[in-house]
Amino acid sequence: MLPVTAPNPERKRAYVRAMFGAIARRYDLLNTLLSFGLHRRWKRYAVEVAAPPPGGCAVDVCCGTGDLALLLREKVGPQGRVVGVDFAEPMVRLARGRAGERDGVWFVQGDAEALPLKDGAFDVATVGFGIRNVGEACRALRELYRVLKPGGRLVVLEFSRPRSRLFAALYDFYSYTVIPWLGRALSRHPDAYWYLPTSIRGWPDQEAFRGTLEQAGFQPVRYHDLLWGAVAVHVAIKPRADQEAGQPDSNTVQGGPEARTEVRS
Ligand SMILES: C[S@@+](CC[C@H](N)C(=O)[O-])C[C@H]1O[C@@H](n2cnc3c(N)ncnc32)[C@H](O)[C@@H]1O
Repeated sequence: MLPVTAPNPERKRAYVRAMFGAIARRYDLLNTLLSFGLHRRWKRYAVEVAAPPPGGCAVDVCCGTGDLALLLREKVGPQGRVVGVDFAEPMVRLARGRAGERDGVWFVQGDAEALPLKDGAFDVATVGFGIRNVGEACRALRELYRVLKPGGRLVVLEFSRPRSRLFAALYDFYSYTVIPWLGRALSRHPDAYWYLPTSIRGWPDQEAFRGTLEQAGFQPVRYHDLLWGAVAVHVAIKPRADQEAGQPDSNTVQGGPEARTEVRS
């Protein structure tokens, strides 16, 4: 099973944060070009599956420029509350700009591994193409577990493992030739779009990641393949108190900010 913790998490955190900060302005354009616009469809699907209740509270972690948070905002409606969290300040700034004057959606700078959010506050949490980039993904999953209400739902949209050999071969060619070349030319970052396919190959497949979510305390966990498995949407439930299947190991969650953002419904 591939590990979800980087060999040197501290170094990975610093690299990822600086890299996403540097490419933030061109990030949306590159996403759209490199995925042929499919990322928008996948995100709409993830939000459909997340199904936050009207008037409910949702959080999108590793929110980037705010795509998922803004879609969640449409779902929860004017009575609901949505928070987007990202540790790269340029991403948060762009997300705030896109939200404009909309009520009920906030973007805050914060770390997925130590969320500045209250325990048990959210009906739904989403992470889109973010968990793979976190230094210690298990810590982030435990944080997501903590901030969800009992019975709350985590939806993780992430690259995964293609099922068809033919498609996998084409996808490999595209990932290791077109993406780094086009990504470098358009982002003007020397290696951001080399990091992308490399980090995807280093990430667990659908089944292994399901196990990781279960280890974090979620139960049940199911997933849906998109694009023949190149992308997967995992849906993980935080059990209600009377059906706890296994609490996450709190010893592995270290620290956490003193100040916690309270989201009132
Ligand atoms: C590939 S982008 C995805 C952005 C957005 N969710 C989307 O799907 O378009 C990954 C984002 O995760 C953020 N990120 C990575 N590690 C993080 C961490 N530990 N805490 C908060 N944000 C993090 C990066 O800054 C970046 O904006």
